[in-house]
Amino acid sequence: MDDFADLKQFIERTLGMQCSNYKEDYIRRRLLSRMRSTGNETFKDYHQYLLANPPELENLRNALTINVTEFFRDNEVYECMRKDILPLLFRQRKQLRIWCAGCSSGEEPYSLAMILSDLILQNPGMTARIIATDIDKNVLAKAKDGIYTKKAMVKLSEAQVRRHFNGLPDGNFQVKPSLKEMIRFQPHDLMSGVPVSRWLDVIICRNVTIYFTEKQKDALAKMFHGALVSGGFYIMGKTEYLGRTSESMFAPYESLQKIFKKKD
Ligand SMILES: C[S@@+](CC[C@H](N)C(=O)[O-])C[C@H]1O[C@@H](n2cnc3c(N)ncnc32)[C@H](O)[C@@H]1O
Repeated sequence: MDDFADLKQFIERTLGMQCSNYKEDYIRRRLLSRMRSTGNETFKDYHQYLLANPPELENLRNALTINVTEFFRDNEVYECMRKDILPLLFRQRKQLRIWCAGCSSGEEPYSLAMILSDLILQNPGMTARIIATDIDKNVLAKAKDGIYTKKAMVKLSEAQVRRHFNGLPDGNFQVKPSLKEMIRFQPHDLMSGVPVSRWLDVIICRNVTIYFTEKQKDALAKMFHGALVSGGFYIMGKTEYLGRTSESMFAPYESLQKIFKKKD
């Protein structure tokens, strides 16, 4: 076995991440970046370094699961949910179930919860539950705390900040319990092949599959198809694509926003 394969096997064993499901080039680039930061020239050196310096394992995990996110990222997709998809679903049933997969530090599920809470205010009797998951427990802990800097909240209106956040003495803001109540955060690996729940109305999984192989992307679409109710929605990131085999499972609903509807 070569040194790269050896290192990948070590990562699979210690971090529990299935490297073979991610594009090889992606894993290689992330490893090279950590090797540069730690002054290791070869995969073998870096492997030895990991064995001698266990704290580096966390840095590597963070490097492999890039967590970039923001409130109302690509706002058009949220506008589409606010004006079209969520009202449409609320006309069909009183309680919505949504899975936000690969939620990172929480900005995405909280953005969605803010929209849902506006709609629920206008339609008393309606309820919504968001299950927000990520493979990375560190970002999930941050999401659960729900503490954000003022800079991270630039896209929020003053009214949204007033209604959904409490100011903290250090100048940061914390999501109010009333908004948090709508969301259940839990760890989940999208490669596990098992959905976090079923009978879901919407699955939002954005900017996660860019690192997945085609085979893994198809397996994921199949899993999402099984977890959605008839006519449920699958929302991807703007730069992501449905694999060829998945096109038979989902029909485009709003192509530009990468919103798909389950085919029965
Ligand atoms: C770039 S962030 C996207 C965050 C958010 N969805 C957005 O679009 O703003 C990608 C997230 O996917 C998570 N992720 C990567 N592989 C995963 C897996 N196999 N299962 C669950 N989450 C995963 C990462 O930990 C990271 O938080």
